[in-house]
Amino acid sequence: MCGISAVIGNENVVDTLYESIRNLEYRGYDSCGLSMIRDDRIEVRKNTGGVEEVNLKEHLTAMRGCIGIAHTRWATHGKVTAANAHPHLSFDNRFSIVHNGIINNFRCLREELQDGGVTFASETDTEVLVHLIAIAYAKLGDVEEAFLSAIRRLEGSYAAAMITSVDSSRIYAVKMGSPLVLGLNQGMNFIASDFNAFLPYTKTAMVMEDGEYAVVTVDQAKLCKAVDRSEVIRDPIHIEWDPERSRKGGYSHYMLKEIFDQPHTIKSALTIPNDDILQLAKSIQGAGTTYLMGVGTTYYVALAGQYFFSRLAGRYLPAVSSDEFNDLAVIGADDLLISISQSGETYDTNTGVRHARAQHAKTAGIVNVMGSSLSMMVDQVILQGSGPEICVVSTKAALAQMVILLLVALELGRLNGKIDTQTYETYHESITDFPPLVQKILNEISGFVRNLADRTAHYKNWMFLGRGVYYPIALEAALKMKEVTYLHAEGMPAGFLKHGTLAMVDDEMISLFFLPPPARKTLHEQTLAAVEEVKARNGPVIGFCFEDDLLAKKALDHWIELPVVAEPVPPFLELIVAQLFSYFSALKLGRSIDKPRNLAKSVTVG
Ligand code: G6P
Repeated sequence: MCGISAVIGNENVVDTLYESIRNLEYRGYDSCGLSMIRDDRIEVRKNTGGVEEVNLKEHLTAMRGCIGIAHTRWATHGKVTAANAHPHLSFDNRFSIVHNGIINNFRCLREELQDGGVTFASETDTEVLVHLIAIAYAKLGDVEEAFLSAIRRLEGSYAAAMITSVDSSRIYAVKMGSPLVLGLNQGMNFIASDFNAFLPYTKTAMVMEDGEYAVVTVDQAKLCKAVDRSEVIRDPIHIEWDPERSRKGGYSHYMLKEIFDQPHTIKSALTIPNDDILQLAKSIQGAGTTYLMGVGTTYYVALAGQYFFSRLAGRYLPAVSSDEFNDLAVIGADDLLISISQSGETYDTNTGVRHARAQHAKTAGIVNVMGSSLSMMVDQVILQGSGPEICVVSTKAALAQMVILLLVALELGRLNGKIDTQTYETYHESITDFPPLVQKILNEISGFVRNLADRTAHYKNWMFLGRGVYYPIALEAALKMKEVTYLHAEGMPAGFLKHGTLAMVDDEMISLFFLPPPARKTLHEQTLAAVEEVKARNGPVIGFCFEDDLLAKKALDHWIELPVVAEPVPPFLELIVAQLFSYFSALKLGRSIDKPRNLAKSVTVG
């Protein structure tokens, strides 16, 4: 999704500005550009394509200036063209702006401006804002007032940063519904959509809240309320993330690196203070209905959580996809909503939380990005501490979220008396022993997984099948496959297959099964029954199974054999290896793995 960055310093900041939008590339985008002030004139260079590609065409790094704004655009209003790329310039060339979000009333503002004689250079909603500012400045003669008076005319969600040739010592920024953070450093300050933009330069940051604007100079960042210009005093926060962890570190792709990061992220999840886990378990215990909510991957995380709570704590927690939450959930003051989000900036999820809050429900969040809108909005937040996740498709963050939900379910099970102390302790032990095991298995199994992926990547249609908790694992694994290979991969409960979809099975439709350990006897038998149903229709069958599963090895055409591990680890292990399988399939097909086509990392629009 669109990324904003702005930098002001004592010297030429072009390299820092350029680097900062490179650090935002992971969000997903289709065009980009820079605006800088040089000799009291604004220069804009922008085009379609990746940052490096645009640099080759437009020589972005040859620009000069001590102040600048930059943008990566993910098209919403207007096609992917150079004209629609940001930054935009006012008709008098004195103001330049970058924007993230959607200005809902842009059509009527555009007509009004056109009637007043303004000619538009783009089809974007953003451009109205920069012209409104220029017109207001012509009337008011004060940049801050002009900026605010234009902002007050907007409806919708937006984060924007502006520079002006009228005063090249200040950057102006505003936040309403879309993320914006400030980075503070000696002799250089930053404004950005997220911390990653400036993490290599400073770890001191300030999170802006909705309805606030900032005026940033080389040595100061003033935060005020847009409604009355009153100053907001807020302590800066220290970002714990290590910028090294946002680098590829020798891996060919971020996706691979993040898959291999998982022992670390599981460990971080396990170091969350038990008081926080217990408090959330108690909130669930005391609530009427507790909903689990997320979207995309995090919806599947919620679905996996649903199984943990049912099985371990005897509580049914409905999992609802964020985009459907407002239409479906019946939520009131007694209820609790647990939202799950890597970025904490997903529009659909945050809208669901706002809806729950409006009904006076209690809210909690499991979030990776500290300071994100979701983390600030909920009554209780668990920060998962997975570190920056750069690949558009979520791997390590999702797994850590599942582990956290498991820990909460275990705690609730103990509170409810649904599980005894011994089970509680054994489960804790096996999840604590999991990280070094993951490391070892990933190292040992990668070659085999790659080989199988190479041999199966020609199949265009895939079914991912599992039962019980292996069903959400199959769904999430299928989503990974779709995202990175662009192939048709449908996740489904293995038991559901025979009720319709089986009609699609033939020798060109390959089925990938997620088998539970044979010790889960009923689940195992039921899953194997589905394997046989596919085989009987000439469908190729492959699967994940455990070393001791002789029946599966007899039934499957090809399998990835996993070492026997104790509950509750098996589904987690299968998911990790399935992520690896998708990665290698996409590698074989030559896909754009870290930035798959059409996708954005955090979708901040509705
Ligand atoms: C987008 C991304 C998905 C992600 C979903 C939820 O759709 O493309 O990969 O799962 O948002 O993101 P969140 O940041 O809320 O976890």
